[in-house]
Amino acid sequence: MRNFLHLLNSRLSKSILTLGIIFWNSYALAKDVGKGYFDDAPLSLSPELSKSPMYTLVGITDWGKEILHVYGITTIIALIVFLCVSIPILYVLFRFRATGEEQELPKQVKGNYILEIIWTVIPLILLSLIAVPTWQSIFRQDKAVKANLQDKNALRIEVVGYQWWWKFVYTDFGVITANELILPENTPVVFSITSADVIHSFYIPRFGGKLDAIPGKVNKLTYVTPALKSNSGPEGDYYMGQCMELCGLSHALMRFQAVIRSQEAFQDFIKSHNQPPVVTTASEKRGEEVFNLCIACHTIAGTPSANLPSEKIGPDLSNFGDRKTLAAVTRKNNMANLKAWLKNPLRFKPGSLMPDLQLTDQQIDDVSAYIQFSTAKNKD
Ligand code: CUA
Repeated sequence: MRNFLHLLNSRLSKSILTLGIIFWNSYALAKDVGKGYFDDAPLSLSPELSKSPMYTLVGITDWGKEILHVYGITTIIALIVFLCVSIPILYVLFRFRATGEEQELPKQVKGNYILEIIWTVIPLILLSLIAVPTWQSIFRQDKAVKANLQDKNALRIEVVGYQWWWKFVYTDFGVITANELILPENTPVVFSITSADVIHSFYIPRFGGKLDAIPGKVNKLTYVTPALKSNSGPEGDYYMGQCMELCGLSHALMRFQAVIRSQEAFQDFIKSHNQPPVVTTASEKRGEEVFNLCIACHTIAGTPSANLPSEKIGPDLSNFGDRKTLAAVTRKNNMANLKAWLKNPLRFKPGSLMPDLQLTDQQIDDVSAYIQFSTAKNKD
């Protein structure tokens, strides 16, 4: 019993207990974030998105695999170093523990040329072991990048970061979209990445490769898109993307999704994207009128909003009804969330340029119906 109490009181058990409390609190906090304040839980915590985690440990593009190859070598070397250091330390700690009966200090040793040389040479060897495959990988990747840049069949997409959403321009097709980056499978893609305001960073973790979006500068990123998964449905495979550069209040909410589709489905997207919306119900008809309040910033292809010469500072909404999420993958795209967003955009996305237009409930219902249903191109 005394031994047990002694164990409870030991530093080790106190440390474990403290860590446990910290982990439990963080978990409880993460689970409750946004509850009560938002209408539903933020998407990042929903099971929907956990199917598409932002991990980097499975590379599914050529670029991603190349990075993982170097990462693997580094990890193995680091593991060996860790074992070579920690095992002798643990041995010494236990083997030479003070018994309390020592009368004097152990022998004090200073400087040892042989040891100095050994622990300078070992890191040199280790670093070369990492450097050589890294260079090889960089050269291989460089070759692939050049090949893609010259490939006439490569899909060229202009990526523009805005606070806090992404614009994607399919330059060869005159198609502009936002936040859902629809890509054909097994195709070389060349992204020309820039920004409209501050520095952002374009990153789809599972595709590998991360590049800054800098105002006034164009950075190129290119890889071959992955194949469709064997079990993917007609909507294709969704992969989370995220801005990786702290860019202001809603940086964490600057997400996007890469959607891999079959070549046919991609062509359907390109063909249908600029078709004018189909207005059917009376509510949608009224909503079309209300949308005139939005056209300074937003565009729906095939409507007068597309003919305004000004640069649109809000996301293109031409295929909004087909998107799975709204507000840059902040919430699921459904009528309830769309209405809540229109009623108070800053509640979903602090600092957003999207103003509260003081719309009446009726106007919100109508304009939501218009942009939700009239713009859906692929709903049966
Ligand atoms: Cu854009 Cu962080």
